[in-house]
Amino acid sequence: AMARLTRRSTLGLAGALTLGGAARAQQPWPTRTVTIIVPFAAGGPTDTVARLVAEAMGRNLGQTVVVENAGGAGGTIGAQKVAMARPDGYTLLLHHIGMSTTPTLYRRLAYDPVNGFETIGLVTEVPMTLVAKKDFPANTLQEAIAVIRRERDNLNYANAGIGAASHLCGLLLMKAVDTPMTTVPFRGTGPAMQELLSGRVDLMCDQTTNTTEQINSGAIKVFNVTTESRVPALPNVPTSAEGGLPDFQVTVWHGLYAPKGTPAPVVQRLSQALQAALRDERLVARFAELGTTPVAQERATPEAHRRFWQADIAKWRPIIQAAGQYAD
Ligand code: MLT
Repeated sequence: AMARLTRRSTLGLAGALTLGGAARAQQPWPTRTVTIIVPFAAGGPTDTVARLVAEAMGRNLGQTVVVENAGGAGGTIGAQKVAMARPDGYTLLLHHIGMSTTPTLYRRLAYDPVNGFETIGLVTEVPMTLVAKKDFPANTLQEAIAVIRRERDNLNYANAGIGAASHLCGLLLMKAVDTPMTTVPFRGTGPAMQELLSGRVDLMCDQTTNTTEQINSGAIKVFNVTTESRVPALPNVPTSAEGGLPDFQVTVWHGLYAPKGTPAPVVQRLSQALQAALRDERLVARFAELGTTPVAQERATPEAHRRFWQADIAKWRPIIQAAGQYAD
């Protein structure tokens, strides 16, 4: 760990120096492709958000921004990759609420899940939906709860590993209905959705950015949205409270990060580019179709992101500790 810390701070200094003086005038950052690591599989909700953000940020930065998927272990593999990357602004992380639950769920990680990162800004907040395979024998949340209680030993609940939003949502559901289920982990809910569509898994709780189109085409069943209000893209789907489970509430926030030690001017430039991306017409329109909205501009800043994230870690810690479910 000492060697790693030393290496990182040396690189941080080198990164800061290239931005100073004459170097800045000749070679403003970024001079090459920027990579956003998504810690889940391609084709899923985080990937969908990241690709829209990357494209719009690229237009603002005048450089290509690519998305690289590094799924597995509930998002911790991709997060570790970024925590240990060169802090030069060319490797970023787009991650979600898992950044709040991981520090409690994992007691042994090879990277620092809080201090290993610079915050750049919040991106979006996404409602979740409890969904099931098309022939699941229930049509309402109450009917689904009855089936879960009756068939608990025969049902499979898909998630994207411990630390995923789908994991947290499942934990809340199982607590709310006081019934454990067998969970099947995937590298992301993109691949998990394929299994739900083919009926090989029964249930999943996933973000609207991955479920809205499948729900509206009738390819899967939906029982509720996990937010206080209904979602405009899913006007006929009742809220948890309407379905009789008022405590089943979770909203998945996403944020953009850089490795700790990334020079402050680079982080500021990234935050500006993120703010511009979140106003991009194409992005806003696509977000709306997928049941979400970009955060307000003042929340897409390093300070607002850091404050929100810290409060969210504190919010989820006692809930996870009460559930007593740790990854290690
Ligand atoms: C994904 O992108 O696959 C998801 O965000 C997984 C999850 O956290 O449930």
